[in-house]
Amino acid sequence: MQTILSGVQASGHLTLGNYLGAIKNWRELHKDGRYRCWFFVADLHSITVRQNPAELRERSIEIMTLYLAAGLGQGENSIFFQSHVPQHAELGWVLGCYCNLGELSRMTQFKDKSGKNEAGITSGLFTYPVLMAADILAYQADLVPVGADQKQHLELCRDVAVRFNGIYGETFKIPEPFIPKEGARIMSLQDPSMKMSKSDPNSNGYILLLDKPDTIMKKIKRAVTDSVGEVRFDAENPERAGINNLISIYSAATGKDFEQIAHEFEGKGYGAFKQAAGEAIIDVLAPLQEEYGRLSNDKEYVRSVYTKSAEQAREAAQKTLADVYERIGFIPKEER
Ligand code: TRP
Repeated sequence: MQTILSGVQASGHLTLGNYLGAIKNWRELHKDGRYRCWFFVADLHSITVRQNPAELRERSIEIMTLYLAAGLGQGENSIFFQSHVPQHAELGWVLGCYCNLGELSRMTQFKDKSGKNEAGITSGLFTYPVLMAADILAYQADLVPVGADQKQHLELCRDVAVRFNGIYGETFKIPEPFIPKEGARIMSLQDPSMKMSKSDPNSNGYILLLDKPDTIMKKIKRAVTDSVGEVRFDAENPERAGINNLISIYSAATGKDFEQIAHEFEGKGYGAFKQAAGEAIIDVLAPLQEEYGRLSNDKEYVRSVYTKSAEQAREAAQKTLADVYERIGFIPKEER
């Protein structure tokens, strides 16, 4: 059985981009039944930028409940909070000692984030990819489903694992990224050159998973397009980025490919297409929102799932950590 692992940061409300680009694909893999899955809320990662404690708590539970609402909690799989498994931070420290400054300095996400906000850059933001490597390697993951923006972090993880294995012998499995074609990169509805993100100052740029149907429709109707007026995916033309993004969203929401979509809307304008796209998103999110509402009233159940999952996670991660400590030359501790 192969092992799958992934996480989402707890730094804001989840968007349609998180769902179509990540959680929906995790569910497909999970339902497949051929994988042991570990999905977590990356709360340790989220404090790389300052968080309000009450909001962090609220968001963390919201994401956990959404994981459950999406059906990720069934069967043998574990969904947990990263901070409930101390092995992530412990292994993160070790791996940081096998990762060079130069490698971390090349991370484009760090360059982007630090460029915007020179004064508030913490060393945690800089070493964030090391913690991410620890998340993955602790579970000996085979496959890591992530959005395209995380590919570079995954490559770093592989480099560090290969380096460690080279020094100490086979310790870590080398993970493969799993980047879905469609829906991998959902862009802002207002500025399609940027990833759809909850940190966008313009709330019309993103759709939240818990947005109400009329809000969703309003945001889709306001999405930027162009004056061509033809519903056809056209990667060549940068002016068409807005409509391309809407077509990608519609495709990910309905499972229709670009060809089918072009055919469906031949001779029809953007108005008709936006109406259909809005309805498709509302339909995709309706069962999720309904289940979320139900689970929000069953906090005991949610708690029981993440508590049991964290136990399983600590046990699995501890196996790797103990092996790593022994190989490095640390004195084994006596359990008494
Ligand atoms: N860095 C990821 C993001 O921002 C979240 C994450 C943390 C993650 N640890 C991970 C994803 C391990 C996959 C595997 O989206």
